[in-house]
Amino acid sequence: MKVLTIVGARPQFIKSAVVSRQLRKNNEEIIVHTGQHYDYNMSDVFFDELKIPRPDYNLGISGGTHGKMTGEMLIEIEKVLLIERPDMVLIYGDTNSTLAGALASVKLHIPICHVEAGVRFGTLTNPEEINRIVSDDVSAILMCCTESAVRNLSLEGKTENVFLVGDPMYDAFNFYVDKIGSKAPEKIIGLDGEEIFFPDKFYYMTCHREENAGSDEPLTEILYAMNSLKFPCVYPVHPRNKERVIQLKQKYNFKNIIACQPVGYLMSIYLTVNAEKILTDSGGLQREAFFAKKQCITIFDYIVWPETMIDNRNQLCKPCRKEIVSKINTEQSLTCALMPFGDGKAACKIAELISKFDR
Ligand code: UD1
Ligand code: UDP
Repeated sequence: MKVLTIVGARPQFIKSAVVSRQLRKNNEEIIVHTGQHYDYNMSDVFFDELKIPRPDYNLGISGGTHGKMTGEMLIEIEKVLLIERPDMVLIYGDTNSTLAGALASVKLHIPICHVEAGVRFGTLTNPEEINRIVSDDVSAILMCCTESAVRNLSLEGKTENVFLVGDPMYDAFNFYVDKIGSKAPEKIIGLDGEEIFFPDKFYYMTCHREENAGSDEPLTEILYAMNSLKFPCVYPVHPRNKERVIQLKQKYNFKNIIACQPVGYLMSIYLTVNAEKILTDSGGLQREAFFAKKQCITIFDYIVWPETMIDNRNQLCKPCRKEIVSKINTEQSLTCALMPFGDGKAACKIAELISKFDR
């Protein structure tokens, strides 16, 4: 079978690393990178570190409004599909690249396999929710990470060709956690390229969503809270927030915040495994915190991965300094051994189901 995979953003590179490895055992794969993420440490570093085959096409489309970005991707993906004529298109998650890939494929009657199907926040104010719902609606095979995702689809009447395969992020975590080594890095690269000594003990924070980092107020609250804790906070900053973080750090003299450039996946796993606790608004990092048995605070209004909330191991929190400090400083039990994200073989199952798919 000839499968055309569409990726564009950081979390998709990680998932495709493990799925491509399995898929290529029995299928031909063409990789299309939309260009949505393009800085070295938002894109190439993942291809290098995780040994993902180089994309066959890079469309170089990024930035602008959601409509512009998605529209340009739709036009260019359609051109590639008409050249390659794949038997199936493989899309991941909920980015604008996912939506554009789904629309271009369904219009050409090419079956779509959607990995990470069925995740729902319950609000169309979130741009990723729109991308997910539309992608699920037009896909031929829906690969779910968790039982709650299967349930969400069932509530929408989607029960055919829905498969509970587990989470490829869990596969990736298991595969790469052994490769990070135990030695702490001596230094980390700051936002202006300066070298910063790496602390012995630290909190790990990522925060990039529009709701939290798109204006000064919520981000100031979050940084205030993290700056006041007993250990420094390592914060790799998404490029969209770089200027705001530099400016807020200077304005409020947040000396306990180690704001650095985005790190590669192996370093991110190192930070996850070795952090005291984690604060994030990332869908990926809150699951990785769960895999690593680290307490996590998620700055978001909606539950994205209910399975991570067991024993309050992951708790939602408002961008409010008092609430963040209180939640971070309250210890939660991390002993529960339940693993609701599969058996670490999601990628195998996805590849098998794709190979067997009968159009
Ligand atoms: C996107 C996804 C989000 C996902 C995140 C992963 C959508 C709607 N959102 O959000 O679901 O959690 O990726 O990280 O697709 N930029 C750079 N360099 C880069 C990449 C981005 O400078 O390598 C800047 C650009 O100015 C761009 C802005 O960041 O306009 C936002 O990037 P974009 O891809 O639109 O959205 P994300 O916030 O990354
Ligand atoms: N990540 C990374 N480097 C960073 C920050 C995050 O490699 O500087 C990884 C992290 O391990 C997680 C993934 O990127 O698995 C999640 O990406 P992101 O938070 O951008 O997207 P989301 O999961 O929210 O869609």
